[in-house]
Amino acid sequence: MSADNRTVWVVDDDASIAWVLEKALSREGYDVSRFDSAEAMLAEMNGQPGARPDVVLSDIRMEGMSGFELVDALHRDNAELPVIIMTAYGDLDSAVDAYRHGAFEYLTKPFDIREMLTLVERACHQGAAADVTQGGGGKPKTMLGESTAMQEVFRIIGRLSSSEMNVLIRGESGTGKELVANAIQRNSPRADKPMIAINTAAIPAELLESELFGHEKGAFTGAHGRHVGRFEQADGGTLFLDEIGDMPAGLQTRLLRVLSEGRFYRVGGREEVHVDVRVIAATNQNLESLVASGAFRNDLFHRLNVIAIHTPTLRERRSDIPMLVNHFLQQTAAELGGELKQCSAEVFEIMQAYDWPGNVRELENVVRRLTVLAPSKTIQPADLPAEMLQADSRSEDWESALADTASDRLRSGESRLMQSMGARFETALIRAALAHSRGHKQKAAELLGWGRNTLTRKLRQLHLD
Ligand SMILES: Nc1ncnc2c1ncn2[C@@H]1O[C@H](COP(=O)(O)OP(=O)(O)OP(=O)(O)O)[C@@H](O)[C@H]1O
Ligand SMILES: [Mg+2]
Repeated sequence: MSADNRTVWVVDDDASIAWVLEKALSREGYDVSRFDSAEAMLAEMNGQPGARPDVVLSDIRMEGMSGFELVDALHRDNAELPVIIMTAYGDLDSAVDAYRHGAFEYLTKPFDIREMLTLVERACHQGAAADVTQGGGGKPKTMLGESTAMQEVFRIIGRLSSSEMNVLIRGESGTGKELVANAIQRNSPRADKPMIAINTAAIPAELLESELFGHEKGAFTGAHGRHVGRFEQADGGTLFLDEIGDMPAGLQTRLLRVLSEGRFYRVGGREEVHVDVRVIAATNQNLESLVASGAFRNDLFHRLNVIAIHTPTLRERRSDIPMLVNHFLQQTAAELGGELKQCSAEVFEIMQAYDWPGNVRELENVVRRLTVLAPSKTIQPADLPAEMLQADSRSEDWESALADTASDRLRSGESRLMQSMGARFETALIRAALAHSRGHKQKAAELLGWGRNTLTRKLRQLHLD
């Protein structure tokens, strides 16, 4: 990853050290700012909205606020911001403290400049590859839904609020799995502890092991310092394993061990690390078929799947579409500072008929585009993307509509669906056949593929005669 456009803030009350760091980092292309106290750095950050470095390098012992206090203060609002702690006291205690405070890494002074650069580069890379999602302070995204399908999701989140069991969130891409993970964490006994996220699919397989479990200095070429993995960072809190279906086989085995024993070794490490981590995993893949094909461990699947939450597709909850559209219209207008647009009734109709293969994310993107591109204040059908205007998908899609209705009813606790829905299905077919035959029963029976007597019996049963 290139250092260009990456910002590093150096906090040290020793001007000469700060100067050396600045020189070395700027030479590599980083944009560096120096601060002689933690307070000064926080003032800069809070004074200017949007002022936010990619990495912070901070001394521990300074006049006023210490490096640890700075980490704590930063992580209240920016849980994902990597902070590298520099210490002149290369003892275990300050190292342990650094991790306990959630520092990304620590450097012992005097340090090797190359080691420092490697760490900074790693920290930048990490911030980009995986992030700690809205653990504490950040404003959580609103999760909206009034449909039965979403109410069910909310109910489960509520029921889970006193529990620390592992959860597996399943659902198509863009259905809000990450949002659900955040909501579970925020409403859990571990709400005040960090939620560390790692996206299995976004990190190269060869880096994933050390990302999860950490490594010791010298564990492999390029391992210039000790690295604390996500499991250790999440100790006491929650680990969000996103896209778990993409986890390589070898790591699945390690993961299973950590989940069952709560301990592991860092890569190249001899000392066992004990952790207490609640795991929330998510996937859009069919884990059962991955298990069947041998690509996913069955025992791991069962360990993760203690509680399963299914995020419904948008087409399973079409009634929520207008509400979501209005929400995204407001959000985009607020963000872009433009005028608040609205949709014509026809536009809502088309949107509710469309199948949304990309689910809420696709809807969000469409609304953003419309906010920018639609010429007038009221969005019209002609402004919509072409794929949404193609043949009304409702009439072609009666089977999925039927399936949606069936799932809705099951969710609301109904049983004996064949009796209720089956009767209505037959009624609809019989009515259509009778209408087509202009009331001629013999002909209607033929159209349906029944004998005359069957039709008569059905008419009586269904109270159609
Ligand atoms: N119920 C909801 N209310 C409001 N916004 C939502 C809702 N569900 C999803 N979103 C928004 O849709 C986008 C996609 O959601 P999210 O990233 O949680 O999906 P995902 O299931 O994790 O997708 P993927 O499998 O592709 O990672 C986000 O911007 C999210 O804020
Ligand atoms: Mg996701």
